[in-house]
Amino acid sequence: MRTQVLEATPEALTRAAEVIRAGGLVAFPTETVYGLGADALSAVAVARIFEAKERPRGNPLIVHVADATALDEVAVRVTDRAREVVASFWPGPLTLVLDRAAAVPLITTGGLDTVAVRAPAHPVAQALIRSAGRPLAAPSANRSGRPSPTRAPHVLEDLGGRIELILDGGSTSVGLESTVLDMTTEPPTLLRPGGVTLEQLEAHLGRVRVASGDDEAAGRSPGLRFRHYAPRARVILIDAGAGEEAVLSWLDGGKSVALMVQRSVRLDRPGLRVRSMPVDLEAYARELFEALRDLDATGVDAIFVEGIAEVGLGRAIMDRLRRAAS
Ligand code: TXA
Ligand code: MG
Repeated sequence: MRTQVLEATPEALTRAAEVIRAGGLVAFPTETVYGLGADALSAVAVARIFEAKERPRGNPLIVHVADATALDEVAVRVTDRAREVVASFWPGPLTLVLDRAAAVPLITTGGLDTVAVRAPAHPVAQALIRSAGRPLAAPSANRSGRPSPTRAPHVLEDLGGRIELILDGGSTSVGLESTVLDMTTEPPTLLRPGGVTLEQLEAHLGRVRVASGDDEAAGRSPGLRFRHYAPRARVILIDAGAGEEAVLSWLDGGKSVALMVQRSVRLDRPGLRVRSMPVDLEAYARELFEALRDLDATGVDAIFVEGIAEVGLGRAIMDRLRRAAS
């Protein structure tokens, strides 16, 4: 299959909506990362997402809707509390786990009786959902186990030849995936930290429980079971300022090494690449996945990354770094 890459013009959007309605696959930008979209209500279309990504069938997909009015098409028993959260954070990088409506096929939810739903804020995502006229199942548009794509060329690299169309809408603005919040528990459970911070959620909801390894074991948080964000190089998470010795010993052993740090580093050694990351967390989040992809593409043996404080977006950034390093 030839994968078309089109700038997201109105004509391209019309074409993309046709592809979706015909059961095809379209990658499109959201404000978080690029998604790989298909008709969420078509089991046949959704099966193609799993194939194209080589994604394990048990890992459920997020259903993308244009706004809160579409909630009741895909979810049932939506509480007033969930509606309030939606009113505060949608459209935006927040995904809610709710009880699944019968219209959503089980393949979309990885066999679960819950469904993850979000309304993306990106105008191209909004236009595509509206013109396709149906909810879109869309995981991040990377090959399973690769860093999520934040630009169209990343999607082409991972999924070229496997999907019909990529809508190019430039770089995504958040750069990390949405926050996943399970609203079927009391208190609500944070399953994945992301673009909306725990602090922001707590300001609206009071206590929010943070999912742990136990949730994973109990199958409540299927996404946590699967390997993620793994570049080919070994990723090693180090404490801020404490990694120089380890870096030097790798270099002395003849290896090539990259170092991702927020400060400026004076190490200038053959075989070492330093990638300086922004101090501002929003900017850091925006660059993270691309930095991992770029450094990996240089063929280094290891990528050392300095940890950052787990406050605000720092929580989501550290979550992704830990997974990349695991
Ligand atoms: O920002 C995002 O969320 C992007 C863009 C494209 O919207 N999408 C994304 O999808 O990151 P994906 O498939 O890469 O991650 C979805 C996460 C996974 O961890 C999955 O296990 C979890 O959401 N999830 C989906 N449905 C769920 C459910 N019913 N219960 C619990 N977790 C669920
Ligand atoms: Mg993903």
